[in-house]
Amino acid sequence: MRIDIITIFPEYFGPLSVSLIGKAAARGDITFGVHDLRGWTHDLHRTVDDSPFGGGPGMVMKPEPWGEALDSVQALAGGRGGFGAGPLLVIPTPAGAPFSQLHAARYAAEPWLIFACGRYEGIDGRVADEARSLMRVEEVSIGDYVLAGGEPAVLVMTEAICRLLPGVLGNAESAANDSFGFGDVESGDPMAGLVEGPSYTRPRVWRDREVPPVLLSGDHAAIARWRRDAALRRTAQNRPDLVARLATEAPVPLDRHDLQVLSEAGFPVDGKDMAH
Ligand code: ADE
Repeated sequence: MRIDIITIFPEYFGPLSVSLIGKAAARGDITFGVHDLRGWTHDLHRTVDDSPFGGGPGMVMKPEPWGEALDSVQALAGGRGGFGAGPLLVIPTPAGAPFSQLHAARYAAEPWLIFACGRYEGIDGRVADEARSLMRVEEVSIGDYVLAGGEPAVLVMTEAICRLLPGVLGNAESAANDSFGFGDVESGDPMAGLVEGPSYTRPRVWRDREVPPVLLSGDHAAIARWRRDAALRRTAQNRPDLVARLATEAPVPLDRHDLQVLSEAGFPVDGKDMAH
């Protein structure tokens, strides 16, 4: 996979050479191109922003350097061939569609991604319009808060995407077993719609706290039931929005035991309403 990143802070992406992603890049499984947007400016001050038409606070990133940057990056990587459908341009912005595990999986299947990191009040709107006439473009947000720029969002998305690439995680199953919210309902995973419960490792007793004994029992059915209970409790505690959808959207209908656990966790649900 090839990932190009256009930014005014190339140094922000030092972490891409660290850890699992760094190793995948060293192996050649992922090729990163980090490009300084100011390289496509032509004035003494290497200006990338200007005040907004129509007034208002802040600054807007100028279209000319972005246009040239996207033209060059597209040509540079395209020249190496082998990128069939061409690049997918991803523009991080708080106004984008919510980035989820589903996006990560979809992006991980792309041969070539370009990320365009905006700063200030964003990039002149014509840049995305122009890019849409040349390539596929998606605007995504990593959460309902406003960052100073797209750079941290790109680091977050890159990590979520790259850990799904074959060979990046040590244990191939770790990524396959990822369950997140309702993202993978189609997979039929019985844990879809839930967040995961806690995990434990040695020592069996730490500061007088014991690992739940069932996890040491070797009884796989009992362990699976315990894990489901723990996932239900944590989902109830932290993600009531997901609990509300379980009745109608969970791939496996909630059983009486599930309803009991949810009820004890403060979701007194009527079995007739919840189980389908
Ligand atoms: N840029 C600024 N805030 C952002 C957010 N929440 N997600 C993605 N890009 C951003």
